[in-house]
Parts: sequence; structure tokens; C-alpha cells
Amino acid sequence: MLKTDFVTWALVRLCQASLRISNNIILKEIKQISSQNTVQAAQSQFNTMYFSKSDRLRKRAHKIISGGYHTHAKGNDQYPQNTLGFICKGEGCHVTDVDGNEFIEYCMGLRSETLGHERIAQAAYEATLRRSNFLRPSPIEVQLAETMLSLLAYGAMIKFGKNGSEVMMAAIKLARAYTIRDIVAVPSSQASFSVDDWFIGTTAMNAGIPQQVQDLTTHFKYNDIDSVKALFDRHPDEIACLIMEPAKYDPTKDDFLHRTKELCRQYGGLFILDEIITKFRWDLNGAQHFYDIDADLSTFGKAEIMEAGGIKYNKERVFLLSQSFGTVTSSMAVALETIQIYQEENVVDYMWDIGRKLEQGIKEIVKELKFGGYFTINGYPCAWYSVPMTKTNNTQKSSVRFLFRKQLSKAC
Ligand SMILES: Cc1ncc(COP(=O)(O)O)c(C=O)c1O
Repeated sequence: MLKTDFVTWALVRLCQASLRISNNIILKEIKQISSQNTVQAAQSQFNTMYFSKSDRLRKRAHKIISGGYHTHAKGNDQYPQNTLGFICKGEGCHVTDVDGNEFIEYCMGLRSETLGHERIAQAAYEATLRRSNFLRPSPIEVQLAETMLSLLAYGAMIKFGKNGSEVMMAAIKLARAYTIRDIVAVPSSQASFSVDDWFIGTTAMNAGIPQQVQDLTTHFKYNDIDSVKALFDRHPDEIACLIMEPAKYDPTKDDFLHRTKELCRQYGGLFILDEIITKFRWDLNGAQHFYDIDADLSTFGKAEIMEAGGIKYNKERVFLLSQSFGTVTSSMAVALETIQIYQEENVVDYMWDIGRKLEQGIKEIVKELKFGGYFTINGYPCAWYSVPMTKTNNTQKSSVRFLFRKQLSKAC
């Protein structure tokens, strides 16, 4: 479970970050609001951090691993220099890097972990002792499917995958097969759906992806129903599906989700909700329950469509998902144990509550330090995003973001 000292820690870090920040653009203002001594003391504390083992590992990694990482969000280009590079262990939300510095990891497991609980590790261990992968399915697959569906008012059928990208790809394949259409649309403001060509082809890193594939994904604006209408007008009878996270940065407004779904019904595209982040944060029953809306496909799908990937389907079948390591029992046991803990400890309410406190505290500190022009916080209390920024230009904006990250990457 997240530690209760987290809020205090994060506020202190933000406060220190604000005071220690050394960027010329804003140092003048910071100095005006804090004494010279405080800035110097904070800077000398900053300079005592060592990352020599991380640095050596970074060099080794870059020689033999393309990019030096296996997950984009963990890459060195995402973090400032002279900060932690490799984390070797964790307990709860506390982690230790290879140099022995200790940190609190806010974004646990890239937001995939919310518990960090010993019971989870124990469940995985016990399942592994019984061997975790067999020639035929294990009963735990049925047990987990039933449990997951019992948490989703609208779900009727499920298929497990190993990661978000492949289940998104599976949803698109089903949508294309079901509608006999090719084009997929996503909101331009939501930036992570998949590592696969259908999505990465729309980003700046689209090398190696054929133009024909890139042309099959297009955009609309979240919260802007006119942009959804315009999309259907631009591509009549071509849209296989609209995909979106139910919510991310901006609060949903003007009944956007329901009105978008209505347009999908009217024009024949499927309405797909990506609940990879929201499912276990907004509500144990998913953001769909929170917003009282059902999707045609999300992490879960309606039987009619999902059966296209089944063996009882009498039309052309979709090869949906199939991996040798897809349903190892240790992963299934972890999922079951996680749900159990969520139910016993009311984890979702706790996350909303602690998120609200954190947001409130940060806003007070930002106001007190007159830092408002440089820092905004958006998202939802159960999954907020901070966006340090300046009033000036983009280069300065990203340099402040880097500095902010650097300050947050200090040991506790
Ligand atoms: C909302 C959302 N959907 C899908 C994905 C892709 O998931 P994965 O990294 O497991 O492939 C991500 C990853 O960050 C995500 O945030």
C-alpha cells in the first residue's frame, strides 16, 4: 500500500525543488521569494548526490542494448543527466538505486502498480512453485475471467494479454473484422495507446512504418464533439472504431463520452475505451462504471464482438491473442490477489483521497511561492500529472520540465 508519509514527502520535495531550481530563467524570481541562504543550502545538498554506479551501467547498456533501455518511458532521453539510472530493489513505494540512494517512486511501475504489497509477491511465488505454464489451460484462467467480469457491469467476454499494446491491437483487429472497415481514430491529446505501427505511425517516431499503415489512423479532439462529427463526415463508411481513454488530463465535459458513443452508433464505428490506466484507479468497476457508460470493446468486450476471436464463430475468424507465456499462472494469481486486496482495503477510495490531499498541498505551496506561471497540475486525483511550464517558449518549457524532474529524482 502507498505509504501515508507520501503526501508529506511529495510536498516537501516540491517545495525543495522550487527553492533549489537553478535555471537562469526562473532563478531570479525564486530568489526574490526565498533567502539566498536557503537556495545555497539546498544547492549544496543537491551536489552531494552520487550516481557513479548508475553512470557506469548506463555506458555498458548503451553499448549492447539499442537505446540503452527496453521501455521507452525508462530511457535516458526521458530524464536529465546526473540523476538515478538503475533501480535495483523496492519495498512498497520506496526504491533503492544501484548507488544505494533511496527514493519514493510516485509513478510505481509506470503507473501499473498501485499496491507494492507483500501479499502480491507471495501469491506469485506460491503459483510459481506449482509450475506456472502447462500444455492446457489452468483453472485459474477461468477463475480470473469470472472475477474480472463480475467487476464490469457491461462486460460479457474477456481475453487476457501480456501488455496494453497487444490488447489494443486485438481490439482494433476485432473492430476491423466486425465493421469491415479500416480506419481507426484516436484523440490527438492522448499520447500513449500502443507501441504498434497503427499508433506509432502517427507520432514523430514513425520511421519504418509504411505510409499506407500511417494513413489508416486519424485524429479527433477529446471533449470536442464537433471534431468527432467532422471525422465521420471526412470518412463516411470508413471508420472501424474510435479509441480513447475515458479521461486523462481534462475533465470530461458536455457529456462527451455518451455523445461520441451515439455518433459511433449512428455512423457504424465501434466505441472503444482504453481502460489500461483508468480501470483500477477511477473505480474498481472501471471508469465505465464511474461515467455510467459501456463501450463496445475495452480491456473487456461484448460477447458478440469478442466471439469473432473464438472457435464457435461461424464467419471468418479473427486470430485474436495467443502467446506461449500469455496466461502463466503466477500472473493470474497476482491479478486475483490484487483484486482481493482492492476489495478488502478499499484501495480506489484511498487513492482518490490521498491524491486530493496531495493536489491541495501542492497548490498551496505553488501559490505561496508565487510559482503558478511555471507549474500546473492536471489530471485526476487518482492519477494526476504535473506539468511544469514557463510563460515563454517551448525550449524553456522543456528545460523547466527537465529541471523539475531532476529535482524530483532526489533521494529522500
Ligand atoms: C492508456 C494506455 N494504453 C495503452 C498503453 C500501452 O501499454 P503497454 O506499454 O503495456 O504496451 C499505455 C502505456 O503506457 C497506456 O498508458
